[in-house]
Amino acid sequence: MTSHAEFGERTPGSEVAKVFGDHIRGKTILVTGVSPKGIGASTALALASQQPAMLILASRTPSKVDEVGRQILAEHPTTRLEIVPLDLGSQQSVRAAATSIAQLTPHLDLLINNAGVVVTSRHATPEGIEQQFGTNHIGPFLLTNLLLPLLRAAARAPSAVPGATRVVSLSSAGHRLSPIRFSDYNFAPREVPPEEDHFRPLAGAFAKCTPDGYNGIVTYAQSKTANILFTLSLQRGLAGEGITAYSLHPGSIETELSRNQDEELNAQFSKVALYWKTVDEGCSTTLVAATDPALNDINGLYLVDCQFKDPAPHASDPVSAERLWKLSEELVGQKFDFTATA
Ligand SMILES: NC(=O)c1ccc[n+]([C@@H]2O[C@H](COP(=O)([O-])OP(=O)(O)OC[C@H]3O[C@@H](n4cnc5c(N)ncnc54)[C@H](OP(=O)(O)O)[C@@H]3O)[C@@H](O)[C@H]2O)c1
Repeated sequence: MTSHAEFGERTPGSEVAKVFGDHIRGKTILVTGVSPKGIGASTALALASQQPAMLILASRTPSKVDEVGRQILAEHPTTRLEIVPLDLGSQQSVRAAATSIAQLTPHLDLLINNAGVVVTSRHATPEGIEQQFGTNHIGPFLLTNLLLPLLRAAARAPSAVPGATRVVSLSSAGHRLSPIRFSDYNFAPREVPPEEDHFRPLAGAFAKCTPDGYNGIVTYAQSKTANILFTLSLQRGLAGEGITAYSLHPGSIETELSRNQDEELNAQFSKVALYWKTVDEGCSTTLVAATDPALNDINGLYLVDCQFKDPAPHASDPVSAERLWKLSEELVGQKFDFTATA
């Protein structure tokens, strides 16, 4: 249970931040993926309104994140704001960003893995990983693990409240459209066992493939399932260390996420979205997941409209979570064993 059952679809994030202001003030907070029209920007603005000790924005396009930075400083001039370049689609960039962040602060109270991308044609990261899986899951997997020493330092501080140190990862309701295709995570596409294949039942624009057989809906859905399974692994691995983790669907918000979608695909999304949130409403679930003290004790995995909701069974299966963790370690070439690095 969250502490505010009345928070829902239309609750503005700025209001959530005010209600939980005591749990933002004095905290060191990192938000990824911050561009003027997106959820990252509204999240950062809401957090800045409650005087965090330091707000770090890690993002890909300097001109965009700088614009949000200027807006934050105009509205909240006393904010200690830091901007770090981060391309989650490049493991080299993720490692460089983690090093820069560790130079800015020895501890991190809140990590908000907000950044995400949607593509509708085949691209790969420099490491040869399908772009959405690489950017939306592998990048945040690596970043979070590299920043775990900072999160642990925050959780071990004498003043720390157990469970208030958090990792929050933005997934999507779209995760329901695909489990992890362990036999074909790059979407070659290859034949996969039935339990890995939700592709066949898709219809209309969702089912369309490019001439080289790529389907961006399935690969986005897979990456968003990965966000929830990763959160499950963090919850299990970090239990007892005072660090909690949550995933969420922010709602349907008109941002630049759809920049690569064609009209047919946009029309199909419009049919499934019952209500389009403002960007302020679009950050409220993130803020509940990050700051509600009722979530210091883990009592759920995934939130929608500021409340807990069950994710698809394929996104909450501990065996798949463990398999994904091992695959992710292979793809970043580094092991992250909770006990070994504690
Ligand atoms: N909007 C929705 O309806 C909706 C629904 C469900 C889930 N979500 C999730 O919400 C999150 C925020 O999305 P949004 O709607 O705010 O989309 P957005 O406006 O496109 O913002 C996404 C942010 O992620 C950044 N980003 C993209 N690729 C990146 C990379 N390789 N490295 C670092 N940053 C990168 C973008 O930077 P640039 O602008 O510089 O490219 C941008 O700042 C995503 O995780 C998305 O999956 C959104």
